Amino acid sequence: MPKLLVTGSSGLIGSEVVIHFARNGWEVHGVDNNQRAVFFGPQGDTRWNQQRLIETLGKGFEHHEVDIRDRPGVLTLLKTVKPDAVVHTAAQPSHDRAADIPFDDFDVNAVGTLNLLEATRQACPESPFVHLSTNKVYGDRPNTIALKELETRWDYDDPAYADGITENFSIDQSKHSLFGASKVAGDVMVQEYGRYFGMPTCCLRGGCLTGPNHSGVELHGFLSYLIRCNLEGREYKVFGYKGKQVRDNIHSHDVACFIEQFIAAPRIAEVYNIGGGRANSVSILEAFSLVEKFTGRKQVYTYVDENRIGDHICYISNLAKMRQHYPGWDITLTLDETIQQIVESHRSRA
Ligand SMILES: NC(=O)c1ccc[n+]([C@@H]2O[C@H](COP(=O)([O-])OP(=O)(O)OC[C@H]3O[C@@H](n4cnc5c(N)ncnc54)[C@H](O)[C@@H]3O)[C@@H](O)[C@H]2O)c1
Repeated sequence: MPKLLVTGSSGLIGSEVVIHFARNGWEVHGVDNNQRAVFFGPQGDTRWNQQRLIETLGKGFEHHEVDIRDRPGVLTLLKTVKPDAVVHTAAQPSHDRAADIPFDDFDVNAVGTLNLLEATRQACPESPFVHLSTNKVYGDRPNTIALKELETRWDYDDPAYADGITENFSIDQSKHSLFGASKVAGDVMVQEYGRYFGMPTCCLRGGCLTGPNHSGVELHGFLSYLIRCNLEGREYKVFGYKGKQVRDNIHSHDVACFIEQFIAAPRIAEVYNIGGGRANSVSILEAFSLVEKFTGRKQVYTYVDENRIGDHICYISNLAKMRQHYPGWDITLTLDETIQQIVESHRSRA
């Protein structure tokens, strides 16, 4: 039985990857210490999801309560498990939270990633290493693309970006937030372990990754949090850009399917922009209407004129490289289907 090690296994992407591979005959080892509850408080708690994995998967899944900042602990784990592939999703994932906890943010996102890379090199250098990076590595440079204002959203006013932003967009000389900077450090290190040591690594620069198993909070998990606010009649705060800022949303299942494709036919030091693409893009105002359609409840919100520092006005991932390298992969879930699943999940959790 092939073995997979997944960090951040109780989180949105980690748990989806665990289930996906366990159902495809892999023995899966999860690493998570519920740090999300430390970062975001009780609403970010992911123990419910850890429990769900243990109950659903039984013997096919083993949970390891390890902090990825624990260098000797990570090395021992990798040497003991010797996984056939590593999927690294554990992170401090919030743009805004990072400024309050700069050392924790960097220690987890940059140093934790290095701990895992080096442990993988020592224990199983042939094993594919998939790293969840972020579109925030591009900093606020996407905001320099010419934009046009439409009735409910911003859009690119430059035909070169009609299909979105590609992987050769510059990550340099822009404002990233501390989170974006710590993720750049991890991203470049993952590429370096590929180029320098010849290891099969890849960085997935996520747009909005979403799905029913997110523990959405105001500072992270846009759609999940928005839907939760709608269902609970709580006020959602829109920060700037007239609520017309655009995000492209990809269901965690489609992320797991891409990871499966990469692990089956790995390449060295690759980088992919992974998001929902234009078809699954939505502005905040548009998201309100879509969600209302499924919940039957009007969204309560307030508008704050000031945008979040470095926030993207319009971000759409160009998926051409993913589709070209892995023709067996494509987006399978529409935005409507994704929203419906998140609504149902929040209702059942409540
Ligand atoms: N969700 C998004 O919209 C999005 C967008 C772009 C990139 N990403 C990236 O994708 C990855 C996964 O995101 P997610 O939404 O699943 O996040 P998540 O917060 O739902 O999951 C991350 C998990 O990692 C765990 N974790 C954090 N620090 C840890 C540590 N030091 N040791 C062990 N476990 C730790 C947390 O407890 C949590 O369960 C992250 O790298 C994130 O930066 C996410």
